[in-house]
Amino acid sequence: MNNIKIGKIGIIGLGYVGFISAVGFALKGYKVKCVDILENNVKMANNGEVPFFEPNLRENLGKVLESKRFSASKDYTILKDTDISFICVGTPSLKTGEIDLKYIKSSAENLGKVLGTMDHFHVAVVKSTVVPGTTEEVVLPILEKFSGKKCGVDFSIAMTPEFLKEGDAMNDFLNPDRTVIGASDQRTANLLKNLFMQLGGKILIVRNPRTAEMIKYANNTFLAMKISFINELANISRTIGGIDINEVAQGIGLDQRISGKFLKAGCGFGGSCFPKDVKAIKEFAKNRGYNPILINAILDVNEKQPLIMIKILKEAIGNLKGKKIAILGLSFKPNTSDMREAPSIKIIDQLVKEGVILNAYDPVAIDEAKKLIKGTINYSNSLLNCIKGADACLIITEWDEFRELTPDFFIKNMKEPIIIDGRKIYDFNLFSSKLKYYTIGQK
Ligand SMILES: NC(=O)c1ccc[n+]([C@@H]2O[C@H](COP(=O)([O-])OP(=O)(O)OC[C@H]3O[C@@H](n4cnc5c(N)ncnc54)[C@H](O)[C@@H]3O)[C@@H](O)[C@H]2O)c1
Repeated sequence: MNNIKIGKIGIIGLGYVGFISAVGFALKGYKVKCVDILENNVKMANNGEVPFFEPNLRENLGKVLESKRFSASKDYTILKDTDISFICVGTPSLKTGEIDLKYIKSSAENLGKVLGTMDHFHVAVVKSTVVPGTTEEVVLPILEKFSGKKCGVDFSIAMTPEFLKEGDAMNDFLNPDRTVIGASDQRTANLLKNLFMQLGGKILIVRNPRTAEMIKYANNTFLAMKISFINELANISRTIGGIDINEVAQGIGLDQRISGKFLKAGCGFGGSCFPKDVKAIKEFAKNRGYNPILINAILDVNEKQPLIMIKILKEAIGNLKGKKIAILGLSFKPNTSDMREAPSIKIIDQLVKEGVILNAYDPVAIDEAKKLIKGTINYSNSLLNCIKGADACLIITEWDEFRELTPDFFIKNMKEPIIIDGRKIYDFNLFSSKLKYYTIGQK
């Protein structure tokens, strides 16, 4: 172990986290070998294509393929000569909200089998978001069972949570603000420290993997709490009128103890991480006999928040049946095609129930949206076609393309220039002086 040098890195799971990490390490000069169970992901990766939209990823994948530092396979034996492997598989929710560890277990089993054939020391690192205790109590025993080897003798384990943001993930990997490392022993922690030091940012070594696992949940739950907090204040402010929630956020954001980030009122948080992670830690607590009152409230506020858009819409145009409504933005945030738990899904489902005729436009997420949105809606191939002749327009994702629009553009092309802006992308005074412009928390 003293002599271990990281030359070859294994990545298990070629989703957002695995893809970015693989390309990122390869850009840094490491030879990276990737495994995924999906034939399509593997084929696409080896052909220089990415199965989802993420800025700069495709270009960088091209570079590392050309330099022969990146390869992918469905076959785990590709990992045989790696020194370290990162488990980056998905950790979705079960119906109960609890974490589903099936991909973690199967990847640990397959890694264990290859580990059994290795004649050198190996470090197995969990990068997926997993509830506290998983690396030591689930992954480690599976690795030992299927390799026939002993942790601390033939291999070691660690957990380094991933903090990347979809939409800016490549940059986050190459310029992290911090890396958290929880390892089974100090030498493994130091090895990982040396690896991640090359990327920059602060390195925090914590006492064990479960602390690192808890840090990831604490991080996401805290950010989700800030969003639900400002959304709740926005909803209260609407009942009074005359309060600009942006100014409230600005006012408290100037307090350095609070910071202004993640204090933008809107139609709620979505995405592949916040909803599932907050639910997972809630269920984790409940299963251990603790009722997490604050975490329950974060989810309760968020559950109702998208529907505030429909409440405002009804206040603006009355009965919705037969009305033509334009939806601008479907992905859970801009610069991604990720539709998982996007607020647009809930808003559209409800509008379909109310008998609305819906036109929706998103620059990149329409194909993903078609998989998740059940009701019949029209997908527009352009922003203009989407809003043309509409009785009202709902802005759900703050794509740059929408920010550039002027009040005149809406006035000229809509039947009724009514905008419900769930992301507050326009100058409130300018827009509300020219057309009917509503936001969450500015009335
Ligand atoms: N997406 C994010 O922004 C983000 C950020 C931080 C942390 N995370 C966490 O990282 C983990 C991965 O997230 P993601 O968004 O990349 O997931 P994802 O669903 O996009 O990708 C997971 C990949 O793992 C593959 N996979 C599943 N089982 C496998 C197995 N046994 N062997 C090999 N491959 C397997 C899947 O085919 C898929 O390609 C999750 O725990 C998530 O919570 C995600």
